[in-house]
Amino acid sequence: MSKRGPFAAGDRVQLSDAKGRLHSLTLQVGGSFHTHRGGIPHDDIIGLPEGSIVTSAGGTDYLCLRPLLLDHVLAMPRGAAVIYPKDSAQIVTNADVFPGAVVVEAGVGSGGLSGYLLRAVGERGELHSFERRDDFAATAQRNVASFLGEAPANWHVRVGDLQDELPRLPELQGRVDRVILDMLAPWECLDAVEAAIVPGGVLCTYIATTTQMSKFVEILRLRRAWTEPRAWESLVRTWHLEGLAVRPDHRMIGHTGFLVTARRMAPGVQPFVRRTKPAKGAYGDDYVQPDVGTDTP
Ligand SMILES: C[S@@+](CC[C@H](N)C(=O)[O-])C[C@H]1O[C@@H](n2cnc3c(N)ncnc32)[C@H](O)[C@@H]1O
Repeated sequence: MSKRGPFAAGDRVQLSDAKGRLHSLTLQVGGSFHTHRGGIPHDDIIGLPEGSIVTSAGGTDYLCLRPLLLDHVLAMPRGAAVIYPKDSAQIVTNADVFPGAVVVEAGVGSGGLSGYLLRAVGERGELHSFERRDDFAATAQRNVASFLGEAPANWHVRVGDLQDELPRLPELQGRVDRVILDMLAPWECLDAVEAAIVPGGVLCTYIATTTQMSKFVEILRLRRAWTEPRAWESLVRTWHLEGLAVRPDHRMIGHTGFLVTARRMAPGVQPFVRRTKPAKGAYGDDYVQPDVGTDTP
């Protein structure tokens, strides 16, 4: 699959019509793509530069472009909900995923984040992805391979729960630079993550609800192995741009998930005691302290 130059057999192409309707296909010599506005022979597209327009047998024009990773993620088959590209961008930046890094990710779900992590670690890095459902792991591998042309050699997908599988890998203990968790109960993985991640390593958790986020953050604090967690969400508002009518679009995606990051303390070193008093009522009579886990340092 070529990423540059004229379209070739094996390339993914995204066709869009004047109304913005999208179709994706893989080019094959002699192949044909059928729309309700007539067929388009793949041979009409092979050899053209990106940004060309082809016309179907029924007379409709289609713009031909290679899909961007964000187009692919939003269109690919989903086993589980994907991390949206706007959150993947936040994760790569705030978890500081760098070329050459050793990164652990769980769960893989549909592979929505994996492609971005593979790009960020580059060929010298390693991505170790864990997924408890084998059908989802297979979907993720197909999704990433269909964008990249093949699953890269530095991507290791393992089926099973992170908290069970990661401790079984001696080669990863004390070697992992970054850990990204996207699952219902990330607090269940903290024993395994604390053993594998390097001092100063970044843990980044994507979490869907406020109740999960609160439980996760309070447990993280009580373990006294992490810097003070930082939490945020990102909202992206697209704009309508037409002459003098320049305004935010009426519709937006109002909620995807929250992100929490913290960094691993050195072994045996405890984080600072918080100097600011908790807000009145924050830990009042109704507050129930969550169970902190079994191997609290
Ligand atoms: C929301 S999906 C992940 C989506 C994925 N990040 C993406 O962008 O496509 C959550 C996944 O975590 C998996 N999961 C939940 N707990 C897990 C665990 N402890 N270890 C491994 N996978 C887990 C679930 O099976 C599910 O597929």
